[in-house]
Amino acid sequence: MENFIMYNPTKLHFGRGVMDGLGKVVAEYGKRVLLVYGGGSIKKNGIYDKAIQQLKSINAKVFEYHGIKPNPIIEDVDAAAELGRKNKVDLILAVGGGSVIDSAKIISITIPVNHTGWDFYSGKAKPKSSIPLVSVLTLAATGTEMNPFAVVQNKATQQKLGYGSDLTYNRHSFLDPENTFSVSRDYTAYGIADLIAHSLEAYFGAGEATLSDKLVFAIINEAKENGNLLLNDLVNYDLRAKIMYAATMALNQTTMYGRVSGDWGVHSIGHILSLLYDVAHGASLSIVIPAWMKFHKEKISARIAFLGQNVFGVKTADETIHAFEAYFKSIECPIRLSDIATGKESKAEILKVMNLNKVGGANHKLTNEDHAKILDLFW
Ligand code: NZQ
Ligand code: ZN
Repeated sequence: MENFIMYNPTKLHFGRGVMDGLGKVVAEYGKRVLLVYGGGSIKKNGIYDKAIQQLKSINAKVFEYHGIKPNPIIEDVDAAAELGRKNKVDLILAVGGGSVIDSAKIISITIPVNHTGWDFYSGKAKPKSSIPLVSVLTLAATGTEMNPFAVVQNKATQQKLGYGSDLTYNRHSFLDPENTFSVSRDYTAYGIADLIAHSLEAYFGAGEATLSDKLVFAIINEAKENGNLLLNDLVNYDLRAKIMYAATMALNQTTMYGRVSGDWGVHSIGHILSLLYDVAHGASLSIVIPAWMKFHKEKISARIAFLGQNVFGVKTADETIHAFEAYFKSIECPIRLSDIATGKESKAEILKVMNLNKVGGANHKLTNEDHAKILDLFW
């Protein structure tokens, strides 16, 4: 087992009605609030009104930035940072899914400096401080509520990258499973695929960490046991709560301790599909996971088979891959690129951007030749 530091400063408020305590928490940081949200779902489902009510109760002065897109873009980060800087905000309140919260993380380190948000991704800038960030999560998937990572797209450089530091954690995250009742069936399923993918990226990382492996199995089994039930009962509190907690645990680093690293090869390829075809994040992963496993099958067949034994009760690597495909299909997630985005005519375009981004994992690296072979398995 590798040495590790366990550190997670986010205070997580989980359960029914937790937003009732939001105003008090916000007031700890000040009254000038940059409220960041997405395309308006929070106005339809009442979460916006709940947040505003809490902010009013402490007489906060609110500056709003909305319109953060799914697969968020760096231009929104810079525009929101400018609004926050100009109005000298004391804190950021992000209300939304991964796209909104990730953007808010980069906004929080961009406001104090004379840099663009992308400068942190390109290595031009290092954060020295951050504006406190409080979040209300509305979609269970990414784990952003309790990790330091923030994934943003830059169309100009054809990149979708992750960034994180000790300064990009949420100070507080509010998770009321009821706030996810209105998440559509497809995004609910993509969230389940995403949390499974996070568990797998840890499992296929380097190093031997048997307890972390067992946690991976437990999280995937929890998702499997409750995912299909939830898709047939979208306003079931207990099922929403179980999936929400599983998503948090899948990427709050609990499954990483004792490993050298995770892999993240599947994510790096999935990001290219989102960048090029605006594929929803979880949908990109349910396509890449089977292809990735098929490509690596000979090299790591025992590791894949061990996963299959613990998650599906099957014996071989082939059976495991087949079982993952069948599971993703059962929750109506795509498993081939032709299911959603594009046909084989796009191969050259995808390959070019995969090569440009040098996609691959920390443990299982991929060459340009590998990219072409793995890509063939997408259809
Ligand atoms: O735009 P709004 O109105 O917010 O609508 C969103 C969006 O259309 C909607 N939605 C969110 N909550 C809802 C809701 N609709 C109805 N009711 C609700 N309660 O759902 C759509 C998708 O939202 P988005 O935030 O994009 O989804 P998700 O949470 O899956 O986030 C995806 C982003 O996170 C990144 C992904 O790459 C992608 O850009 N990731 C972040 C990670 C992290 N920070 O650790 C790790 C992940 O692997 C991932 O890369
Ligand atoms: Zn993910």
